[in-house]
Amino acid sequence: MPIVTFFPSQKTIQVPSGTLLFDAAKMAGLPVASSCGADNICGKCNMQVLSGAENLSNQEPTEISLLQRDKNSTADRISCMTQVLGDCVVTTRYW
Ligand code: FES
Repeated sequence: MPIVTFFPSQKTIQVPSGTLLFDAAKMAGLPVASSCGADNICGKCNMQVLSGAENLSNQEPTEISLLQRDKNSTADRISCMTQVLGDCVVTTRYW
């Protein structure tokens, strides 16, 4: 099972492949910003990938549109739209 590491806390959690990054952070006990309840609308749950970007699900056009709307880097990931498929290290601007 993939291991997700959260920076800077260094918390780690092992999750089944296909788990949403959003859910992995919650399972690790970390807060995730959201005003839409993970309905793929608010874009507040975006995360920055420090390593393992290749181990995340591909970005769909709707995810890229959300990132562009909020003037975030398109290298960011909307965590409620991103599946963990392998090991990765992620952070947010507020952790
Ligand atoms: S929680 Fe709103 S887009 Fe992810």
